[in-house]
Amino acid sequence: MAGNCVYAMLPCFLVLLHFIQVRAMGALSPLDPSSFSKPDLAIMKHVSIFWNVDFDKKILDGSVAINFEVLQSTSELILDVKNLTIEKVELDGTPLQYKVDNEVPPFGAKLTITLPKPAATGDKLKIIIKYITSPSAPGLQWLKPKQTLGKTHPYVYSQGEPVHARSILPCQDTPTVKFTYDAEVTAPKEFTVLMSGLRSEPKNNKTSFQQSVPIPAYLVALAVGVLEYRKIGPRSLVWTEKENIEKSEWELAEVENYLQAAEKLCGKYEWTQYDVLVLPPAFPHTGMENSCLTFLPPSVLAGDRSMSHNVIHEIMHSWTGNLVTNTNFEHFWLNEGFTVFLERKVSASLISDKEEARKSRDFHSLLGLQDLTDTVKDHLGVTNPITRLVPDLTGGVHPDDSFSSVPYEKGSLFLRYLEDLSGGPDVFDDFMRSYIKKFRRQSINSEQFKAYLLDYFKDNQNLKTVDWNTWLYTSGMPPVIPDYDTSLAKEVSKLLSTIYNDNTTIDYNDVKKFTPHQFIHLLQELINRSPLTVDKLRTLGEIYKVSESKNAEIAYRWLRLCIRSRDLSKLNDVFEFVNNQGIMNYIRPIYRDLYDWKEVREQARENFLKQEPDMFHVAAYTIRQDLHIN
Ligand code: BES
Ligand code: ZN
Repeated sequence: MAGNCVYAMLPCFLVLLHFIQVRAMGALSPLDPSSFSKPDLAIMKHVSIFWNVDFDKKILDGSVAINFEVLQSTSELILDVKNLTIEKVELDGTPLQYKVDNEVPPFGAKLTITLPKPAATGDKLKIIIKYITSPSAPGLQWLKPKQTLGKTHPYVYSQGEPVHARSILPCQDTPTVKFTYDAEVTAPKEFTVLMSGLRSEPKNNKTSFQQSVPIPAYLVALAVGVLEYRKIGPRSLVWTEKENIEKSEWELAEVENYLQAAEKLCGKYEWTQYDVLVLPPAFPHTGMENSCLTFLPPSVLAGDRSMSHNVIHEIMHSWTGNLVTNTNFEHFWLNEGFTVFLERKVSASLISDKEEARKSRDFHSLLGLQDLTDTVKDHLGVTNPITRLVPDLTGGVHPDDSFSSVPYEKGSLFLRYLEDLSGGPDVFDDFMRSYIKKFRRQSINSEQFKAYLLDYFKDNQNLKTVDWNTWLYTSGMPPVIPDYDTSLAKEVSKLLSTIYNDNTTIDYNDVKKFTPHQFIHLLQELINRSPLTVDKLRTLGEIYKVSESKNAEIAYRWLRLCIRSRDLSKLNDVFEFVNNQGIMNYIRPIYRDLYDWKEVREQARENFLKQEPDMFHVAAYTIRQDLHIN
């Protein structure tokens, strides 16, 4: 009995210990609960990066030269590091004392550099740090040749967001700080090196880059593989392995139109070049907005441009996220909620019929609301503190652990609510442009947004009624749901009642005219309801020709339905899907559903453990939690 009791209390004890440990490290900065750095003392302004890419050792070996501006007299500089081996720290050719504290998992460690004499406010310092990364750096994935399409050469790519840049370079790994960079990267000559800046032609296996717009550390990005490119617009190239180059060229052919529609809404594109890299299947996100170079997973190549909203999403980050940046990941909705809001406006603006455009925008907002409802009501629970629009990340909550659709969908829904109150799109689009102009190249928090909005609309009585406290700081569903146009969703609801009525027959004509997104909506509605019988689901799958779809959003939802209806015959398809691509938004819910199916739980765990060595670090780490493995 007593023994059991001790075991039952162990998790609480470990959480408490972790909390005490995080606090005791004096760790986390008051500006950013996810960073050790102290940019209020001295701030990074520019970094010169020198890397040699070593595929044999799976490391980046090199140095960074960091230019700091001192803001307050200090004798120390404090940076974030994770799994880095520091070899030397220098100032003007003189070695400096430095200390790496014990690791505070999963945040990494604090690097303290001691200056030979205190620096005064306004001083400029250039610190050179020689170091190597670790093969297990969470911000880098080293792919084996078998994980690429070509199967002959390895590949490496980085993922800095939210707080993994510290495993790639020592830095102030907080979006409070933005800096410019240049880089010189050496790799064997058959490889192409890409980074999140303007690229110069390689010379003697060295490729140089320049990013002259200040960016947060999480946007420093690298990819090295055997790649080809095609020009897809006046300022755009698409890069990928040769096996995917033609599909990529076709799928992304409209990029310049998207950019122009985005500029019409948000103002000039400030980053000069907009390139896209289509990665191998292990890439864990549906997209990543690295500056000048969006990273996309290969599943975006659906063959019908039905994933264009993903591309438009990453394009919109060129304004919200990359130009106006959340000051830390408590304010992540300023990046993602704004970007979803703009993505839906720009996608709709590409439809020439105004009425259709309005309906389409509202339909996508309804899909988002469906997703939010699933997250808040079913997955996290309405009282869960991470369902706040601005969650509290102090006390050791890692941004990867608080990630959900809340900042995306509650955030964009809030903006829509504000747009309706303000008088509609015409008025609110002007506000958006003005907000971007005001805060471009800065990092801001939610209170700064609120103050700017209230000042901009100071004569608007409606906006005085907003209950900011509930919207920003209360858990659960949004306090008000906008009055969306439901015409496109109605066709789906009509069909749903047919499906649940046993006396009607299912016919391909039911869905023949559906857009891929209406079909996605149908499947998501089925997921959110009680499971259909295996027979009914199989009939539905055959008649609606679900397996003919190349859209991963459809395939993912279809497999979840098969799991929920307990169709054992589909288990192989399920494993094949989760083993052949790495998108966390798809494979995590699938693994959670498999966990809930007791008869296959162990098989799911075994499958995961076999795949784990080839998975992106964060995916493996979060799925371990989903499957309750240690
Ligand atoms: N910036 C995100 C990806 C991201 C978020 C990486 C948090 C690491 C931590 C990207 O812009 C994004 O939002 N991607 C979405 C898909 C998008 C189309 C809504 C994703 O991957 O879920
Ligand atoms: Zn995004």
